[in-house]
Amino acid sequence: MLNLGILISGRGSNMESILKAIKKKRIPINPAIVISNKPDADGLKIAQRLGVKTLVIESRGFKGSRWQYDRKIVEALTENGVTPLNGLVCLAGFMRIISPKFVRKYKNRILNIHPALLPAFPGLKSQKQALDYGSKYSGCTVHFVDDGVDTGPIIIQSVVKIKEDDTEETLSKRILKEEHKAYPEAVNLFARKRIKVSGLRAIIS
Ligand code: GRF
Repeated sequence: MLNLGILISGRGSNMESILKAIKKKRIPINPAIVISNKPDADGLKIAQRLGVKTLVIESRGFKGSRWQYDRKIVEALTENGVTPLNGLVCLAGFMRIISPKFVRKYKNRILNIHPALLPAFPGLKSQKQALDYGSKYSGCTVHFVDDGVDTGPIIIQSVVKIKEDDTEETLSKRILKEEHKAYPEAVNLFARKRIKVSGLRAIIS
């Protein structure tokens, strides 16, 4: 079976939604390992409670290059069966840009979730960016990771209407609710081999 590795840095609510959906919806993928770059990430405890192996590879104070750090992640993924042939990697609030070498190794096998309708509002604080811009709609995007920041073929998007009285907090909350549906759905599509990438497009069958 396909093996899943999830990379987190904090709260881990998207990770939790994926892990729970795997069990409940019988997504044909084995949750092999959750890796955090921060030792105090709350998501680690959630993963452990759900019976998934966790590992911390601390990035703070790491002296090497971006790839040298990522190589440690790749080694850990590989040791746990999340290989470029038989693995899927989900970035779930992983607050690091991954190196092109990592991306190339796992070509079209790394997913990310972003709290905006890409290509609008990439980068940090996307919900605030959408509000400040006066957008009427925002949402979330699950996409394959390529060499850019928050770029790569889009698998799923979910739209959220922005209300006149929304704050960054209220909008983030409503978007997060959609994230928790969209990310497990994208993992399901991948696991069932229903996504084909053609250039910039991810075609769902
Ligand atoms: C989510 O909003 C996700 O879209 C973004 O970072 C946040 C992570 O939240 N990439 P969580 O750790 O999954 O709760």
